[in-house]
Amino acid sequence: MTTMHTQYRLRRMLAAALAGSLLAAGNVAASGGGALADHAGVDVSNVASLQRGARNFVNYCMGCHSAQYVRYNRLGQDLGISEKQLVDNLMFAAQKPTETMTIAMRPADAARWFGTAPPDLSLIARNRGADYLFNFLRGFYLDPARPSGVNNVMLPNTAMPHVLAELQGVREAVFAEEGSEGATHTVFHEFRTVAPGRLGAEEYDQFVRDIVNFLVYIGEPIQLERQRLGLAVLAFLLVFGILSYLLKKEIWKDVR
Ligand code: HEC
Repeated sequence: MTTMHTQYRLRRMLAAALAGSLLAAGNVAASGGGALADHAGVDVSNVASLQRGARNFVNYCMGCHSAQYVRYNRLGQDLGISEKQLVDNLMFAAQKPTETMTIAMRPADAARWFGTAPPDLSLIARNRGADYLFNFLRGFYLDPARPSGVNNVMLPNTAMPHVLAELQGVREAVFAEEGSEGATHTVFHEFRTVAPGRLGAEEYDQFVRDIVNFLVYIGEPIQLERQRLGLAVLAFLLVFGILSYLLKKEIWKDVR
């Protein structure tokens, strides 16, 4: 038991170290990427946020991105959405609640239109992490040199247009030179608003947080159930522990 435990911890430490060095390598390669480091602060037990996230995902992202491992009826079950609500509010691209969240756009066409096909987002949160997604969706800025007119501080030269510009507004990024002579590099300094959007900064952050929360949830739909199950198991163990203790006292009470 103990060795297994130690092994497990060792493995976890190794994995963390590896992830750390990969991340460092990624940052160097991206040079200028990773400029925002805010925490997403998502909470998958917040069902209201997941419901909003689902609605926003369907309305703003599914034009280009699928979530092909997610079934509508699973969403309904986990997020307390009735079949009628599913059909009325979420299933614009599907006929039956048993279908998965696929889209009509074909990857080959998408690659032609955008240069890069929009990836399926079922597992993106597990791949990139919630904080990255949060900052990516807040990291767009004007860049006339790009075909879409925008660039992103988290994913330089991204092919994704700023589909939430109407909500966030249009921003410029200010970069600064850093380092000593001969070895300077540009680093992201700040955003400046060119035209405000429909949402204030905090409202926009909440809007994005809901979508990221939803992406974290679909990355592992079982996590909601697991949390509920975990609590039930703990409660059971507690009751069982008390009973065992009482039983032990009863059995041993005459033995001195
Ligand atoms: C108009 C089409 C379009 C829409 C709508 C769209 N995206 Fe994208 N998205 C793209 C394309 C194209 C890429 C590939 C970008 C690249 O690799 O440079 C992409 C990439 C991404 C990535 C991957 C970034 C990475 O690090 O690889 C994420 C995450 C993402 N989109 C999230 C979203 C979310 C969330 C929404 C809804 C708010 C959304 N997208 C709406 C076109 C779109």
